[in-house]
Amino acid sequence: MDQYADGHILSFWDCFGKKTEESKTWLLNILRKHGCKTVLDVACGPGTESEMLVEEGFTVLSSDASDVMITTAKKTRAARKEAIFSTWEIKLANWLTLPEDIQKPGEGFDAVICVGNSLPHLPFTDGPDRLQPYKVSLTNIISMVRPGGILIFDHRNFDCILETGKSMLNTVYRNTLTKRIELSIDYEKGVPQMIIMNYIFPPIGGQQQTRTFSIDFYPVLLNEFNQMLSTILGGTFQHSLYGDFKPYTPGDVHVKPGVFSHVVRV
Ligand SMILES: C[S@@+](CC[C@H](N)C(=O)[O-])C[C@H]1O[C@@H](n2cnc3c(N)ncnc32)[C@H](O)[C@@H]1O
Repeated sequence: MDQYADGHILSFWDCFGKKTEESKTWLLNILRKHGCKTVLDVACGPGTESEMLVEEGFTVLSSDASDVMITTAKKTRAARKEAIFSTWEIKLANWLTLPEDIQKPGEGFDAVICVGNSLPHLPFTDGPDRLQPYKVSLTNIISMVRPGGILIFDHRNFDCILETGKSMLNTVYRNTLTKRIELSIDYEKGVPQMIIMNYIFPPIGGQQQTRTFSIDFYPVLLNEFNQMLSTILGGTFQHSLYGDFKPYTPGDVHVKPGVFSHVVRV
């Protein structure tokens, strides 16, 4: 289901979606450190990272499953008149059918990114393995990278959210103007199935009312995510884990990052 189909989120994007300088610097450093030149951004949204990466000289193919997001990314591209922006490709593509939707160049892209807490938009299945859609999506996304290339995934720290019943504002990650996030968590037989996050934004234009935007997330725990990577990739990959862009060791009780980022070299 496309939660962005009505385009409502775009009226909040300036409050909600802008990334911090720290977030941009971290991403650029990782891509450059690994010598990446071609990047597939499989959750481009309105073009948040992709536009920045084109600006920085990367060859970018952006994709997303939402028509509204693809249309908006294309408008972002059309507004940029610099010659380099004519190299930016944008395509509608779903992680669940990625190899059919996108033709990879040769052996694959130097880097594939799926960031902005995008993967947890994937609904769980009712079947015996609720993570099945994640496994299919991760397998498809991983198939797009060349041998020796890297993948970058991120997701909120759902371990902490489920433990405390609260969500941090993630100001390290996004330049958010969100005032607070209200949560409601659905459990089935003791297993968390869905988290509804209500982002509360300050009023605008002299109005009194705060504004709210709701998104449903399907929470994956850190060890579940790590386990899926190991199962899909086998023993031969390098995995670096970051919490709010700093190296993170699972189980570290001294820090509670808002977002985990995984850098995987295949
Ligand atoms: C929060 S936005 C992230 C956009 C951008 N990367 C950022 O960080 O600002 C999540 C994006 O994931 C996309 N998405 C959700 N499910 C998808 C799927 N199954 N296949 C491809 N894209 C999907 C949504 O349409 C949305 O644009």
